[in-house]
Amino acid sequence: MRGIVLAGGAGTRLHPITRVASKQLQPVYDKPMIYYPLATLMLAGIREILLVSTPEDVPRFRDLLGDGQQWGVQIEYAVQPKPEGIAQVFLIGEEFIREEPVCLILGDNLFYGRMRLDEVVGEFRSGAMIFAYPVSDPERYGVVEMGKDEHVLTLEEKPARPRSNLAVPGIYLYGSDVVARTRELRPSARGELEITDLNLAYLARGSLRARQLGRGIAWLDTGTHMALLEASNFIAAIENRQGLKIACLEEIAFRRQWIDASQLRATIDAMPKSPYRAYLDLVLAESL
Ligand code: TTP
Repeated sequence: MRGIVLAGGAGTRLHPITRVASKQLQPVYDKPMIYYPLATLMLAGIREILLVSTPEDVPRFRDLLGDGQQWGVQIEYAVQPKPEGIAQVFLIGEEFIREEPVCLILGDNLFYGRMRLDEVVGEFRSGAMIFAYPVSDPERYGVVEMGKDEHVLTLEEKPARPRSNLAVPGIYLYGSDVVARTRELRPSARGELEITDLNLAYLARGSLRARQLGRGIAWLDTGTHMALLEASNFIAAIENRQGLKIACLEEIAFRRQWIDASQLRATIDAMPKSPYRAYLDLVLAESL
């Protein structure tokens, strides 16, 4: 399975924070937001990753993340010239996807908790899989009504009267036919290739499944100033209580044995003195 992180968009609601650099480059407590969706993909065992962003921001992401080798992954980059919809990413990523299934995660979606995504990814072959997460304000999201056994009854984008309290978070799995299915889509009234329309196309073919994420999992989005602050507070509360970091990419790579102790040592040595560096020193020392 390959992974795509979509990290473009306008970020208008976060103005003026997003005037100079995109939303996904902003901090969530102690690290850039983009680290969190990258960690989600890495924890799912995904090592080939395409990052898609605006023409202005792709060079910034490249500066920040490089080719991924320091984390034992491969990161490639592609440009979305205009925010013409989430589903457009599959046309942009066609060459990257080739004949493989793909997991798309939005660059501003944070997940925390035992999602068992590695198992889902390991078992996934074809069709489409979305997730379902209980929220208090489903009318702001895609809303899924579920039957038995991952069966989807209905899926509606921002319905005025939601049929359930289950929102669709920004992580999706597709078979390699996703490029062909996306080509069949027409832009919506707002001129975008809508991810919900893509999922509805799979539903019409009987090949859309939804897996409910339990209440023990946190799904946070960071699109508004308050949501961004709450995400930072959430990460800080857990990290400071446990003394462990969430989404520390070097640690994830090391624990998965994608990098060895000498590679981790070299990465640490290149870091300025900081709490992040001190944390990794500890991770390494405890492993020896
Ligand atoms: P949104 O939060 O809907 O939009 P936005 O990030 O542009 O913010 P705002 O509404 O404040 O202007 O987008 C969800 C995610 O998808 C976010 O990570 C940006 C990304 N995105 C793209 O990269 N390209 C697109 O064409 C769209 C629609 C979204």
